[in-house]
Amino acid sequence: MSITVNPPPAVRSFPISRSPFPRSPRVTMLLRSTTISTAAALPVLTKLQLDCATPLPVLRHIADAMAADMRAGLAVDGGSDLKMILSYVDCLPTGNERGLFYALDLGGTNFRVLRTQLGGRDDRVIATEFEQVSIPQELMSGTSEELFDFIASALANFVKKEGGKFVLPNGRSRETGFTFSFPVKQTSIDSGILIKWTKGFSVSGTPGKDIVACLNEAMGRQGLDMRVSALVNDTVATLAGARYWDNDVLVAVILGTGTNACYVESVDAIPKLQGHKSSSGKTIINTEWGAFSNGLPLTVYDRAMDAESINPGEQLFEKTISGMYLGEIVRRVLVRMAETGSLFGKHIPQKLQTPFALGTPNISSMQQDTSEDLEAVGSILYEVTGVDSNLDARRMVVDVCDTIAKRGGRLAGAGIVGILQKMEEDSKGVVFGRRTVVAMDGGLYEHYPQYKRYLKEAVAELLGPELSSHVVIEHSKDGSGIGAALLAATNSIYEH
Ligand code: BGC
Repeated sequence: MSITVNPPPAVRSFPISRSPFPRSPRVTMLLRSTTISTAAALPVLTKLQLDCATPLPVLRHIADAMAADMRAGLAVDGGSDLKMILSYVDCLPTGNERGLFYALDLGGTNFRVLRTQLGGRDDRVIATEFEQVSIPQELMSGTSEELFDFIASALANFVKKEGGKFVLPNGRSRETGFTFSFPVKQTSIDSGILIKWTKGFSVSGTPGKDIVACLNEAMGRQGLDMRVSALVNDTVATLAGARYWDNDVLVAVILGTGTNACYVESVDAIPKLQGHKSSSGKTIINTEWGAFSNGLPLTVYDRAMDAESINPGEQLFEKTISGMYLGEIVRRVLVRMAETGSLFGKHIPQKLQTPFALGTPNISSMQQDTSEDLEAVGSILYEVTGVDSNLDARRMVVDVCDTIAKRGGRLAGAGIVGILQKMEEDSKGVVFGRRTVVAMDGGLYEHYPQYKRYLKEAVAELLGPELSSHVVIEHSKDGSGIGAALLAATNSIYEH
């Protein structure tokens, strides 16, 4: 298999430095600082821990409410916070797929293109190549045409480099899967209307439009002959990619910049589904669980961040558990500690007061610092937020990071149990008591060990030792790229 090695896409990527931070002379000097008082900041931490607590009854409520909201969203469109979107993916890859297929992946600050040559049951994936382009910030809030022209031109350049093991039979058009990781109301497997942007995107002219039509028009402008055979969410692509290798995969979850989950549902359990025929009797439902809100343990920091966001009142689960927001919540707590408790001395640097200055990769890196004087924590705080810190202050900062990561991980775990619970309630034995795989992807899950541990602990606490021993929570790294190409193959207009 040949793979062009590129960094993974940003939507699910989460670069976290594992190398120890260089010893900074400034940090040593700061240890002697006397203007820093941590005692006064302690009540802020105590209150935060109280407000973010997720004991078993809270987790149970979240799991039950998730299951109930799923049901309400399946009953009727608009029936709950959860949109429970029909993916029109009724057949998952079998391993028999053959031929050359492309995949496009748009979901965050990077856009990725991939091609794969599939060799059927025996040869499986013969070759894969991908390229990644970062999306200029201005395009994330520009016009629809600008964004799609950018995508189509990157795709056209990539297609020009096709060769070697990649072979398109004569007389065929190239086919692609399009992973579009935003809430889309699918109208068929290859069309869908954008409901709204999430994750900081606010491109004008796209909401309410067919995404595939936007892409087709832009490909036309580039003179590119390519057919979009499957429009899929990243969770659906991840599920398809993981299922290619393992038949027990029933659920896929993305925990990266944003968050979402999808799962295999029986068509009989979808009252709102009218006139949709599925040969398998099953279909994949994209829950869009980022919009879940029932009973979340929220703090003043979450509420303030939400109020100032571009989508107030929306995506509350996402704002509580996903990578785009965890660092920002921590930053807001630190500002409060600095203001009320002089945690970092009298002066509060501008950098600390800048929204989103502290990223989730930063808070994860701080939690990985095992040195006695928390030197890396001091360096990150200084470099990223401009604050001076003594050892007590750093310890307190790590406690804040842990509190926010713990709440996020445990709530995500409860969400997963909610999905499994709903599936089992409808069809006894479908999940519990047999091996069930939850395919996970996303940089937050991949690169924040404490978060991942908290998530798994919550699942085990809720299910108990016997049931949880059959539930495999497995990382499916970048499965969504191949997954989208596989779904393009499954839905190809040509024989396969
Ligand atoms: C989007 C989902 C997507 C998730 C993970 C959310 O913001 O609404 O469609 O699956 O992010 O990328």
